[in-house]
Amino acid sequence: MKFKDLQVSEFSKNANTYGSYNIIQKKVAQKLIGMVCENPKRILDLGSGAGEIYKQIDWNIKEFIAVDLSPRMCELHPKSKNIKIINQNYEDGELYKTLSKDKKFDYVLSSASLQWSANLKKVVERFSEISNNCAVSIFCDGTFKTIYEKSKLKIFLPSYKEVINIFSKFYKINYKREFYKLYFDDNISKFRYIKRSGVSGGKRKLGYKETKKLIETYPLDYLEFEVLYITGAKCTRSF
Ligand SMILES: C[S@@+](CC[C@H](N)C(=O)[O-])C[C@H]1O[C@@H](n2cnc3c(N)ncnc32)[C@H](O)[C@@H]1O
Repeated sequence: MKFKDLQVSEFSKNANTYGSYNIIQKKVAQKLIGMVCENPKRILDLGSGAGEIYKQIDWNIKEFIAVDLSPRMCELHPKSKNIKIINQNYEDGELYKTLSKDKKFDYVLSSASLQWSANLKKVVERFSEISNNCAVSIFCDGTFKTIYEKSKLKIFLPSYKEVINIFSKFYKINYKREFYKLYFDDNISKFRYIKRSGVSGGKRKLGYKETKKLIETYPLDYLEFEVLYITGAKCTRSF
């Protein structure tokens, strides 16, 4: 996977301070849970992190399976007898084979993680085989837009159109795009936030000098985020 190693070290490195730096992710997870219908009982969470999705669920569930690549994030996830935590890459086809041995999931959820997938189509195809419903939030290429423009770095986040196209192949979808601005007192705090929040995916290409220049010349007093929310359902009615 293209950015896997860098991502893991970024998240693991910042895992202790992650709680205080995930303001946007928390808002996003809250909103995503608000889009889930019918209080599903058996849930699979891909890229579960420190458990933001689980923490937002306010109905009784039978089984919650949390999958995350980062061992440190898995440690931070809430524990309980109805939660199973799997430290694995969700790009790994074996994961879905193991999971589908039992019965299907009511819902696949994923918040703020799938944007790093090296092969999103494959991931969605695989989970669509084990769940008739999904709800996901994905950071898209409007995130940190000005930083990318100023630094001339290549944006690695997907466009919302690409993502919609992929999900439409496997589910009947509804979607909503939202933009967020997160204000800071100074530029150094913004860049600290990017580093600690994990939203950057750990893809650090700028050297010290470039970063310094970017910090000094960044024109906005906020950071930009573009989030795509998708809910998907399979038409299971037979005629
Ligand atoms: C920004 S965090 C979001 C965590 C959580 N879903 C939330 O809403 O707070 C993204 C998480 O996805 C995980 N992740 C990234 N790529 C992954 C992959 N290929 N397989 C499993 N987990 C992955 C990271 O380790 C990280 O914990």
